Amino acid sequence: MLLPSSRSGDHLLETLPHWNKSQRWAIFLSLWLAFLWLPETAGFTLNCHKMCICASNIVSCSKMNLSVVPTGLPHYTTVLDLSYNEIVLLRSEWTSVKLPNLHNLLLNHNNLHFLSSEAFTYVKHLRYLDLSSNKLQMLDEFTFEPLVNLEILLLYNNQISQIDRSAFITMINLQKLYLSQNMISRFPMELIKERSRLEKLTLLDVSSNKIKVLPIDELRTLPAWIKNGLYFHNNSLLCHCDLYTLLAHWEIRKLNPVLDFKDDHTCILPGPQKTQVGVFDLSGESMNCSTFKEEAEETYLEQTVHLKCDTRRRNMVKTWMLPGNVLVSHGSNQSATVEPDGNLKISPVRSEDSGTYTCFAMSENFNETIYVVLKVHNFTMHGSGETLNTAYTTLVGCLASVVLVLMYLYLTPCRCFCCPNKGKTRGEDSIHSSMLSVTPTHEDPALKAELNRHVAFMDSKDSQGQNGKLNPNGDEDEDDQDAEAGSLMKGKRKKSVAESISSVFSDTPMVV
Ligand SMILES: *[C@@H]1O[C@H](CO)[C@@H](O)[C@H](O)[C@H]1NC(C)=O
Ligand SMILES: *[C@@H]1O[C@H](CO)[C@@H](O)[C@H](O)[C@H]1NC(C)=O
Ligand SMILES: *[C@@H]1O[C@H](CO)[C@@H](O)[C@H](O)[C@H]1NC(C)=O
Ligand SMILES: *[C@@H]1O[C@H](CO)[C@@H](O)[C@H](O)[C@H]1NC(C)=O
Ligand SMILES: *[C@@H]1O[C@H](CO)[C@@H](O)[C@H](O)[C@H]1NC(C)=O
Repeated sequence: MLLPSSRSGDHLLETLPHWNKSQRWAIFLSLWLAFLWLPETAGFTLNCHKMCICASNIVSCSKMNLSVVPTGLPHYTTVLDLSYNEIVLLRSEWTSVKLPNLHNLLLNHNNLHFLSSEAFTYVKHLRYLDLSSNKLQMLDEFTFEPLVNLEILLLYNNQISQIDRSAFITMINLQKLYLSQNMISRFPMELIKERSRLEKLTLLDVSSNKIKVLPIDELRTLPAWIKNGLYFHNNSLLCHCDLYTLLAHWEIRKLNPVLDFKDDHTCILPGPQKTQVGVFDLSGESMNCSTFKEEAEETYLEQTVHLKCDTRRRNMVKTWMLPGNVLVSHGSNQSATVEPDGNLKISPVRSEDSGTYTCFAMSENFNETIYVVLKVHNFTMHGSGETLNTAYTTLVGCLASVVLVLMYLYLTPCRCFCCPNKGKTRGEDSIHSSMLSVTPTHEDPALKAELNRHVAFMDSKDSQGQNGKLNPNGDEDEDDQDAEAGSLMKGKRKKSVAESISSVFSDTPMVV
């Protein structure tokens, strides 16, 4: 243990090199005496005897009932342990001096509920920051901004419900982010998805939060080395066969989140009871999800295909074997070549290229073998084009008929909304136009046309109904047919029925 006073003396001597030796000693002595006199108010230099344990560059103030961060921390501190205290806030001026060597800061098990947005401006070289087991509720945009060197950030067991989307964006060296046991309800996809992701992040833990929905399609396309460190068990996810399929795939790939926490992957069944079931039970009785099977890559003759060697670790050395255990070697005249990113490119594909390909991936302490099944269809894309052509023709046909119908509708004499002047000359039509004006003006003209057609079509029924009491039934039928359609459309249609009385006169002959 170092004496704090002698340490401060050294520091002074270094900073005042031009003073002569006796002057230096005088100052040193007077300071030392001052510390002897006022041991309690040593705001200038940390009193290691009282509050902390100082072991060269480690300052440990754990379990000292501190309510504020001690002042006067030595500038050479590399590890500062303030865990298990009663610290409530971390102000911007919690350290008055820069601590350029500080790389570990432990603040776990305090009562922190607030972090100043400038709390970390003097400790830019932090690599490890533990804020777990506190009472933090939100993470704003700027708090972590200076921490460009941070590698590990522990935020588990807080009460975080709000995270700004750019809260972590500057931490380009972040490798592990622990956010479990909070109240997060949104999955922070921006941290891991292509383009916006933190390049070095290999572990993201959002387990035991309040997430209801996962972006499953986006998760599916992530490389395996990201998925391998993506923990989201024990949330309030809604059950869905897609969720089961995703996790079943992860299980086959032996990814850690499923390997280590299989039983903790639960979800809530739809329905009022909110029954919680295991995701892996969804293929059984609870939801009858179809059992997951790894699918083969499919391609056609003469195409180019890229087979991925999607390893669970990054930066592995990859070699490929063709079906029949032929090694893909550099510079031979094989149609398959290994690309710089480790994927296998086959171009052009021949029918005998079907089969199981093997990728051996090696790194210092981990080896992995990945099998990819390739299925080559025995015809080219041209051959299969016929079905496409048929579909295309049908589509064009449909479009043409829609255009014809529209032309037909718009070219009929006097739709009142397109020639209001004419409408005013006749009593019945003026009623009609005022009713039409109730409908929103921003609606799609095509929709309007359809509406009008509908009006005319209902008219024939309606006129019958007025005589033979068929109208209510007709109306119900209409509702049944539209049960699936949007309520907006339904509303409009109902209105159109009301309008139909006024439009009997001019429209009936044209559409029916
Ligand atoms: C901390 O404070 C509590 C009560 O305030 C006391 O019981 C305990 O002894 C204190 N611990 C230390 C290390 O001073
Ligand atoms: C699941 O399938 C089984 C048999 O195929 C059937 O008896 C059961 O009712 C189905 N369960 C659900 C929830 O659909
Ligand atoms: C290269 O291709 C030709 C014909 O496609 C074949 O006869 C020859 O054996 C191949 N050479 C090697 C080294 O595979
Ligand atoms: C990985 O494979 C190589 C070559 O087969 C072997 O020498 C090495 O020991 C293996 N490493 C591990 C961690 O299994
Ligand atoms: C595809 O065609 C080749 C010969 O052209 C034949 O040997 C092969 O069996 C065919 N494969 C299938 C799946 O029909």
